[in-house]
Amino acid sequence: MSNLLDVKGLNVTFPTVDGEVRASVDLNFELNRGETLAIVGESGSGKSVSSLAIMGLHNKARTKISGEVYLHSGSASTEIISATPETVRRLRGKEMAMIFQDPMSSLHPYYSIGAQIAEAWALHNGGSKKDGMARAIEILDLVEIPSAAKRAHEFPHQFSGGMRQRAMIAMALVNHPSLLIADEPTTALDVTVQAQILKLLKSMQNEFNMGVILITHDLGVVAEYADRVNVMYAGKIVEAADVDDLYYQSMHPYTLGLLRSIPRVDKIDDHRLLAITGTPPSLINLPQACSFAPRCSYQSLVSDGRCASVEPALELKSRDHSSRCFLTPDQIAEVR
Ligand SMILES: Nc1ncnc2c1ncn2[C@@H]1O[C@H](COP(=O)(O)OP(=O)(O)O)[C@@H](O)[C@H]1O
Ligand SMILES: [Mg+2]
Repeated sequence: MSNLLDVKGLNVTFPTVDGEVRASVDLNFELNRGETLAIVGESGSGKSVSSLAIMGLHNKARTKISGEVYLHSGSASTEIISATPETVRRLRGKEMAMIFQDPMSSLHPYYSIGAQIAEAWALHNGGSKKDGMARAIEILDLVEIPSAAKRAHEFPHQFSGGMRQRAMIAMALVNHPSLLIADEPTTALDVTVQAQILKLLKSMQNEFNMGVILITHDLGVVAEYADRVNVMYAGKIVEAADVDDLYYQSMHPYTLGLLRSIPRVDKIDDHRLLAITGTPPSLINLPQACSFAPRCSYQSLVSDGRCASVEPALELKSRDHSSRCFLTPDQIAEVR
């Protein structure tokens, strides 16, 4: 058991007219305070859907969710999936918060930045408007908004993209949550601003000793900021490992493909940027098979065509390192 978050057998399914979309399938992982878990995978692999379930943000009338998500705070533990909406609302914004790629999805265009952060604070603490605004300015200052006391009275459209992202982070952190989920927080920003925002998130993590789930498709970001990594493919975790093990001892062909598709400065004359060919499968009626098999170059190494007829389980292959693949550690080492 971890000291912050335990996800056990989490499934998220959307019933649709075409069939059931199984967006998250049997997810199991843990997170400690102060730790960063990266979730990586192509678009549509279930990263956001899983995170929204942890935050209790799905519409339960239109979503089938099963499994358990325990959030531990102090001596109390809450199981989010079965908790009442009221309980989850009390935790959200206080014990756990989420930031998104698009800050405008969290910021209201008609209220000043300061007023919105003050409101987020007052929701959990009560207190006067003046107290709230003082807290807002304090946190805007902490996220390095210049002239915070003045800019608190400005509106979202008066902020640049990077400053808006800082404001959204300030709003998420105003109540000092112990869990922060950052869903592609820098994807929409240019490279220099990206680096500044990630540095800010790291320093905020240290400041509040937060556990952070960092969703990204940028493996460079993962290498720099994550302690552990879950690689997702077609709604499932296909590999989970400490960050160094993931990079240097990858155990899943999909992870190998992702790593080969990043340009490397140390291999400047290697012009082959090996993108993974093919596309992920539909999440409706997935066959009993390895979901990655149609795109995998190493199926032939596995005997009797098992990859196309049996679904591999997520298995521990070495210490704290699991993979969902029939290849033996020796076989994968050979092709790595
Ligand atoms: N409300 C919904 N109804 C049906 N399918 C959905 C819904 N929300 C997400 N999905 C599907 O779930 C899958 C996972 O989505 P998502 O978690 O957003 O992917 P990503 O890894 O890019 O964050 C996708 O195939 C998406 O189309
Ligand atoms: Mg997403």
